[in-house]
Amino acid sequence: MSARSIAITGAASGIGRAATLLHLARGWHVFALDRDAAALDALVAALPGEALDAVPLDVTDQAGIDAFATRAAGAPVPLRALVNSAGIASAARFRETTPELMRRLYEVNVVGAFALSKALAPVLEANGGGSIVQIASVSGIKGNLGRAAYGASKGALITLAKVMAVELAPDAIRVNVVAPGPIETPMVAQHHSAEQRAEWHRTVPLRRYGTPEEIAEAIAFLCDDERASYVTGQVLSVDGGFTAAGLMA
Ligand SMILES: NC(=O)c1ccc[n+]([C@@H]2O[C@H](COP(=O)([O-])OP(=O)(O)OC[C@H]3O[C@@H](n4cnc5c(N)ncnc54)[C@H](O)[C@@H]3O)[C@@H](O)[C@H]2O)c1
Repeated sequence: MSARSIAITGAASGIGRAATLLHLARGWHVFALDRDAAALDALVAALPGEALDAVPLDVTDQAGIDAFATRAAGAPVPLRALVNSAGIASAARFRETTPELMRRLYEVNVVGAFALSKALAPVLEANGGGSIVQIASVSGIKGNLGRAAYGASKGALITLAKVMAVELAPDAIRVNVVAPGPIETPMVAQHHSAEQRAEWHRTVPLRRYGTPEEIAEAIAFLCDDERASYVTGQVLSVDGGFTAAGLMA
């Protein structure tokens, strides 16, 4: 297999970090993008080597996105994949959700993923095609309590991915979504109360939270142009059966 590189946002933590480690282990060159420069420094300290390129980037910063796209276009190892894992969450219920909160979540979770995908699609096309994976959520599929802004943003991301899959197919760019269920990451540690944790354990058929590594495996499959060559426009829920479930007892 010839050398190839992947850009992963939110790479300093949780799911993005696990995807970074897995792709490094599988021989990819990884551009690790995150707004948290200190956490990126820690990542580089833990994983020294030329295959890891840490790039401080806030996905709401269009100038930063454009600068990275220029860099990626001139990179010696061709960019063949993008994973948009950078995201923010909120547990505010519908009645407590303000327009400002709704806009803030859309700005990162939808517009950020859109803008980076748009900037890098021409680079992927010039390199012969590739794969874009958007990290949505089961909350973009189901009506989960307290997920008005978060769920709406992830639902929008899913629809965006389907349109991108159709429009970018002629350029040999596949676009898919991974929709994780509850995954043990710093985001969850911040947003899930003890009561909510118990509720997830009750409603997930596998009766547990998933790990970032389990999500990374699904991402790596979708990013692999040999293994997932005929897969585009799909939503892969990696959720212990949550979205499939109905009556549980
Ligand atoms: N953990 C879960 O249970 C779960 C479930 C479903 C979906 N997701 C989604 O998976 C993705 C990763 O979540 P996680 O649990 O690993 O979260 P996390 O908080 O551990 O990591 C998110 C990373 O994104 C970065 N980030 C946030 N805003 C950014 C911005 N504007 N620009 C650049 N980087 C930014 C943060 O600095 C952080 O390093 C998110 O999109 C999240 O919505 C998570």
